[in-house]
This record gives sequence, C-alpha cells and structure tokens, in this order.
Amino acid sequence: MKSTLTGIIVAMQEELEIILQQLEQPQTVERAGMHFHVGLFAGKPVVAVICGVGKVNAAACTQLLISDFRVTQIINIGIAGGLGPGILPGDIVIGDSLVQHDMDVTALGLAPGQIFRLNTFDFKSDPLLLGLAQAASAHITAHNSYTGRIVSGDQFIACPEKSQWLQKEFSALACEMESASIAHVCYLNQLPFVCIRSISDNANNGAHMDFEQFMPIAVENSSILLRHMIPSC
Ligand code: ADE
Repeated sequence: MKSTLTGIIVAMQEELEIILQQLEQPQTVERAGMHFHVGLFAGKPVVAVICGVGKVNAAACTQLLISDFRVTQIINIGIAGGLGPGILPGDIVIGDSLVQHDMDVTALGLAPGQIFRLNTFDFKSDPLLLGLAQAASAHITAHNSYTGRIVSGDQFIACPEKSQWLQKEFSALACEMESASIAHVCYLNQLPFVCIRSISDNANNGAHMDFEQFMPIAVENSSILLRHMIPSC
C-alpha cells in the first residue's frame, strides 16, 4: 500500500491545540512565519499547521505543505458560519464542493464565484477522503452532520442579507475564509483534499458573539471527526 503523509491545516491556534496535545514524536519546522508540526497523529504521519486567517495565508501554507513537506493529501478542519436556519452551532459540515464566494468577474459576464479562464466552477473534495469523513461523523452524536458546498471569502459574514445571498447564489451550507483557496491549490497540484468544518455561528447579526461562545464545541467536534478518520487515511 502507498504510504501517505497527511497535511492538516487549521486557521487558528484554538483549532490546533487538541491536535497538538495528541501529536506523538513532534518536531516543529518554521517556514514563511508558519510553524509546521511534524509527527504521528492517531498512529499516522502528519504535518499540522496553523495557516492564519484568509485565503492568501491558506494558499501559501498549502503550497508549502506540498512543495516542501511533500504531503500526499490535505485535510482542512476548523469552524465555519452555518447558512440557513437548520444548521446549528456544533453541527458538522463536510465540504464536497468549495467555491470562493468573493471571486467576482461578473462585469465580464461570469457567474459569481467563477474564476476567469479556469475550467472548473468549484473544487471538489476527494471521494475517498469524503467517504472517510462521512463515516467518522457517526462519532458525533449530539449534533447533526451534513455534506454539501462550503464557500470561502476574505470576509467574516455577520449579516442576514449576505448569508441569504450565499445560500441562494451558491446553495452553500457553510461559509468560512480558507477552504476554497486550499482546495484551489490542491486542484492545481492534483492532490487529494477534504474540508471538515463545525459550526460556530449562523453568519447573521449575532455571529460575532455566537462565534466566541460556540467555538470550543465546534473545535472539539471537528477534531473528534479528524481523530476517527485519520487511522483509515
Ligand atoms: N468562520 C466562522 N464563522 C464565520 C463567519 N460567520 N464568516 C466567515 N468565517 C467564519
């Protein structure tokens, strides 16, 4: 069997803490101001890193994982804003399709989100990693798990109109600020990718307060799922 090395990308310190506590034989390497933690997680070799918030940080980090650390697949975990009344804090959204919602070439006749002269509208998660994430989501019993589109942009969404637009325009279940750019870089490098997010807020008026309150449970849920899927990766 081909050996795998999994890159695990999170955006914030809070999202990495649980993983670092469980990382065996840890070694840290610094590149571009980011700390890449190499070790064994759930018995498998991984490189775990905080990329920072936003699409540029996430894209730079992804390319470093691929070019410098030679990871063979990438999993992005963390928190997200839920879109629509049915998706509640703590719920899991596994992204099967990722789109950059702030990519706007509509002036040239392209649909919102479509990247100029790229032969795909969305970036798809790897079917194998997606299946493993869905199977592992059975371990989250107190919250619901969904699979669907996640949209990313360099904006913290905290307004009902924008949240409704993201639902209507992209049929998205969740929004955050990194995964579509990670998926884009993986697409360019033909590397398997999946995104697993847990909901911290509903991207509406109270999002900034919900975010603080529900972040711990959301972080815990996405890392539980990761721990259960990594042994099969
Ligand atoms: N990450 C968590 N909640 C978010 C929101 N409302 N908008 C963008 N990114 C998020």
